Amino acid sequence: DASVAEARKDHPMWSSRFAFILAASGSAVGLGNIWKFPYITGENGGGAFVLVYLLCIALIGLPIMIAEVTIGRRGGRSPINSLRMLTHRDGLSSRWTWIGWMGITASFLILSFYSVIGGWALAYVGQSASGAFSGGNADSIGALFGGLLADPWTLLVWHSVFMALVIFIVARGIRSGMEKAINILMPLLFLLLLVMVGYAMNSGEFSQGFAFLFQPDFSKLTTAGILTALGHAFFTLSLGMGVMMAYGSYLPKNVSIVKTAVAVSVVDTAVALLAGLAIFPLVFANGLEPGSGPGLIFQTLPMAFGQMTGGVLFGSLFFGLLVIAAVTSAISLLEPVVEWLEEQKGISRLSGTLMGGISIWLLGLLTILSFNEWSNVYPLSFISAFESKTFFDLLDYVTANLMMPLGGLFIAIFVGWFMNKQAVENQLDLSNDVAFSLFMFVLRFITPAAVLVVFINNLL
Ligand code: PHE
Ligand code: NA
Repeated sequence: DASVAEARKDHPMWSSRFAFILAASGSAVGLGNIWKFPYITGENGGGAFVLVYLLCIALIGLPIMIAEVTIGRRGGRSPINSLRMLTHRDGLSSRWTWIGWMGITASFLILSFYSVIGGWALAYVGQSASGAFSGGNADSIGALFGGLLADPWTLLVWHSVFMALVIFIVARGIRSGMEKAINILMPLLFLLLLVMVGYAMNSGEFSQGFAFLFQPDFSKLTTAGILTALGHAFFTLSLGMGVMMAYGSYLPKNVSIVKTAVAVSVVDTAVALLAGLAIFPLVFANGLEPGSGPGLIFQTLPMAFGQMTGGVLFGSLFFGLLVIAAVTSAISLLEPVVEWLEEQKGISRLSGTLMGGISIWLLGLLTILSFNEWSNVYPLSFISAFESKTFFDLLDYVTANLMMPLGGLFIAIFVGWFMNKQAVENQLDLSNDVAFSLFMFVLRFITPAAVLVVFINNLL
């Protein structure tokens, strides 16, 4: 393994467990928590959906995160090369590297719409600062959002600004500076969410919002909803596509993978639940529809900012922090694409970032148009599962509900059944054997079975 040691030498490590948790939470916490979780919860009827989502996090997401980080740390390289190395070492088929290829494709597709939504948040920093929310009610705030969506040029401007920001950071490789910033900004975002929950307690229909989130009504749960919950567990934890593998390759050997993965999952889940608690009381207090779709947070939170003291400041700060949370996730989406271009095509980091970034930016046009000119264009409507899905809906569905769970399924099977068991045990370094056996049992049987059952149910 001389070559492994050699490769590791110039593979820098995170300074500590905390640095890894920050970076991994930077990828995990993003629009998925604050924008997507509330609106899909609203669309899927609340409590029962949330319960399924939490089960998916615990029984599927967490084990897969542990498995991904394990592959990454043992491989010590970019996801595809880590997989190539491990399969070679354990005498397995090199086909497993497909997980990495699919992950890069998913990153590419996800970032194209993620950047457009990041652009909405950017636009709302400006709106907030200019006092556009002051004294707003459901109608005026709704009209403001409707106006943004209806205007492809404005959407294009903000999508471009967002993408330019991400390209700039990835091209310069100033991640280390970013990590110091996340260190302060993430706790601040958390704090601000608490302020919003406080506001919702005082001025919203808090008990109704709380009940909507946590009182399961199973009559509202559909098979499609269960797949959405599963897909979102992957999306929100950045799983099934190699992102956590890449981050794991920087994790020092003496850090516990299990504890760290638990910490990241807990932080991510807490942020999502707080966002839900901040938003639904306002939804009910203002007579809004929980299932009103991707605009939900943009139609509710501004009302709170428009009414509370210091709302201009809080509003700008909130959307500003949301942009930063989105950027740190977007970086983890662009990195793998750039790394692939660098490694496989032998081009420089700068050209790789520009090529990847500009292609993704172009693909983003499909999402922009999905909200206006092409809002009635359903490109794959001949497939019944894709009926009345716009380009945006399709990009979201195919990545979160199909590609990521499929990637995760293969990762679970790889680590559970194929990878050298002693190596897995060494990586996890669990002090007691029962815990390790339990983990392996979940990873081998429960996790894959759960993913398969949800998939098969949706096919039937
Ligand atoms: N986890 C991020 C979020 O919740 C999105 C993401 C998905 C980031 C996949 C990287 C990879 O917003
Ligand atoms: Na997330």
